Amino acid sequence: MQRRNFLQNLVLGTGGLSALPFASQATQQNLQCILSYAPEKDVTTDEDYWAQIQLAYSASPNLINMSNAGVSPQPIMVQDALTHYNKLSNEAPTYYMWRILDENREAVRSKLADLAGCLPDEIAINRNATEALDTIILGLDLQKGDEVVMSLQDYPNMLHGWRQREKREGIIIKYVNHNPLPCEDKDLLVKRYVDLVGPNTKIVHVTHMINWTGQLLPVKAISEAVKKKNPQVKVVVDAAHTFAQIAFKIPDLGCDYLGASLHKWLCAPFGTGLLWVKKEHIANLWTHTPSDNPLKDDIRKFEGLGTRSFPIEMAIGHAVNFHNAIGTLRIQKRLQYLKNYLLTRCLDLPNFYTQTSLKSEFSGAIALVGFKGMTSSELHGALMKKGRIYTSPVTWENIIGVRVTPHIYTPIKDMEKVVRVIQEIASALPTKP
Ligand SMILES: Cc1ncc(COP(=O)(O)O)c(C=O)c1O
Repeated sequence: MQRRNFLQNLVLGTGGLSALPFASQATQQNLQCILSYAPEKDVTTDEDYWAQIQLAYSASPNLINMSNAGVSPQPIMVQDALTHYNKLSNEAPTYYMWRILDENREAVRSKLADLAGCLPDEIAINRNATEALDTIILGLDLQKGDEVVMSLQDYPNMLHGWRQREKREGIIIKYVNHNPLPCEDKDLLVKRYVDLVGPNTKIVHVTHMINWTGQLLPVKAISEAVKKKNPQVKVVVDAAHTFAQIAFKIPDLGCDYLGASLHKWLCAPFGTGLLWVKKEHIANLWTHTPSDNPLKDDIRKFEGLGTRSFPIEMAIGHAVNFHNAIGTLRIQKRLQYLKNYLLTRCLDLPNFYTQTSLKSEFSGAIALVGFKGMTSSELHGALMKKGRIYTSPVTWENIIGVRVTPHIYTPIKDMEKVVRVIQEIASALPTKP
């Protein structure tokens, strides 16, 4: 009850409306209803609860959006906050952005730090996971011959970042190949990284959740094992898909550097991200927009971008409030349930396959599915044509299929429709002898 009252005050303001002066009455009522559910109540399959969450978004009723892993929509209250700050900024940009809104930057940093379980002084707010991770990748001091271990299934932007250093400075990249996927053997996942660590390894780059298939990697165990083999190794984590989707605290991962998107599972405005650098490493990481003292021990040195959208950054705080009103664990359980709802009903269909685990230790919201004999774009097209179901076609290394990703605003009815259309596609395919 205490937590609920606390959250209520946080989201709606004491006395009801003061913290969200820009939100409509419908939004306020919707939020009151969401907050009326006791936090300890298990709502994983409570469709009434999730119907209220759906109302908090403005998702299209004409398209079933199963491409949420790319970028997520914002709740209406976040969209309203953005409009509010944008209008305010346009009254006198330098005054309202640089004098008024900038005052709140530290409050946003603290909110993100609370959610991440770390010190505010370890968090820089930036535009996306690419910017955060490239700050690390391009900002670390490495010499010719130093080795970086990463995987072929890491995100292309990050592969490009390290490969630029390989071309330019002669560092050496060693690749883990996660094949086959999914992998439900924790020891094997750890061993793949440890085997490639040698005396010259300086960095191990790990994607917490592989974007193509949703494979969750045991980052903590990997960090411990690679550091045990070579104590000079530093671990960089790509948490684009786990921040605000999976319940964890950054310091518990045992890593040194981390980048995440906020416009994915946190549902913050498009073009928001987070860089985390362990306090003791901040001074030694170079910035990509240098200040008077690029090696100072202040996380804010990574925010010296020049003019950018303050309204976008300020609306992040409202996304955190909305997220906290639900809670990460609830979100994680619901997304796992929705994804498994789909997979368990399709696994026995002829020619159907998935490259995603059903186990919560190795997966989350993302499912990679396919039919033998069908290309990714054919399946993507069939889902769209037969059911206006929008997915993401994938052809990457050992991964072929479509990525189906529900979100917290997805009602079970939409998952039922996805299952029905997949069954329809299966029955129209010629069965192989
Ligand atoms: C694993 C992973 N890392 C990094 C990124 C880049 O994220 P952003 O678009 O926020 O730069 C993505 C984007 O989908 C991703 O899936």
